[in-house]
Amino acid sequence: MSGRGTAYVSGASSGIGRGAAVRLAADGYRVVLLGRNEARLAEAAAECGEDARYAAFDVTDPAAVENTLPALIDQHGPPTAVLHNAGQTIVGALDQLTPNEWQRQMDVNLTSIYALNRHLWPAMVPGGGSIVLVASTASFAAFPQDAAYVASKGAVLALTKAMALDGAPHGIRVNAVCPGFILTPNLQGFFDSQDDPSGAAGGAAAAAPLGRMGSPEDVAGAISFLFSPDAAFVTGTPILVDGGLMARVPG
Ligand code: NAI
Repeated sequence: MSGRGTAYVSGASSGIGRGAAVRLAADGYRVVLLGRNEARLAEAAAECGEDARYAAFDVTDPAAVENTLPALIDQHGPPTAVLHNAGQTIVGALDQLTPNEWQRQMDVNLTSIYALNRHLWPAMVPGGGSIVLVASTASFAAFPQDAAYVASKGAVLALTKAMALDGAPHGIRVNAVCPGFILTPNLQGFFDSQDDPSGAAGGAAAAAPLGRMGSPEDVAGAISFLFSPDAAFVTGTPILVDGGLMARVPG
C-alpha cells in the first residue's frame, strides 16, 4: 500500500488528469486512473509506476459506473484523494445548442461528479480525505459561444462549496482548481473549432499576464497542494491556475 493511500482520478488518460495522476503517484499515492480509452489509460498508468491501476468506462453511463466503481474500491481500497476532472467542451450559444448537446455537456462535466461520488464518498467517510473538483476560469466569467460549458463549470464551483460543508464533519475537505488556458487535447479541439485556430492559440497565450498557456503540470502542482497536509485548513475554495488571466482588467 502506498504511503498516502489511494487516489482516484477521473479523465486520467490525457491532459490535466494525466498530469495530475503522474504527480499524485510521485507524491506517494496509489493512483487509480479512470477514463474511456483503455490503451491511453494503460500508457498513463505506466507513467505513474507499477502501483497504478486503471479502469476504462464512460462516466456518463450510470450502468457502467454502477458495474465498475464499487468493485474497484473493493479491490484497490477506499479513496483518500479524489480528483473529479473528466470533462469536455461543447461550444455554442444557448440558442444554438441542441437538447442533446446541452444534456451531454451537463452529463460529462457535472452529473458525472454526482455519479462517481455516490460510491467514492461513502467509502471515504470512515477515514476522511480530500476531494478536488476541476472547475475553470469559466466558473467566474463567461466565454462567448460557450453557454453550456460555462453553466456547467459555474455549477461545479457551487457544488465544491456544498460538498465542503457536508464533508467537514467527516474530515473530508473539498476544493476546486480553476485552470485558465492549459494546452491539452481538449483546448486544442476548442482552438480547432475556431475560424483561425493558430490566432486563437496565440490569443490565449497572450491573454495571460504571464504570457503563455499553462501545462498540465502547472495544474497538477495546485492539485497536489490541495491534497497535501499543507492544505489541512483549506476547504470550500477555488484556486485559480490561470497565469493571472482573471487578475487583469480588460482594456
Ligand atoms: P482532455 O480532453 O485532455 O482530457 C479530458 C479527459 O476526460 C480525458 O481523459 C477524457 O477521456 C475524459 N473524459 C471525457 N469525457 C469522459 C467520459 N464521458 N467518461 C470518461 N472519461 C471522460 O481535457 P483537459 O483539458 O485535460 O480537461 C480536463 C478538465 O479540465 C476538464 O474538466 C476541463 O473542462 C477542465 N479545464 C480545462 C482547461 C484547459 O484549458 N485545458 C481550462 C479549464 C478547465
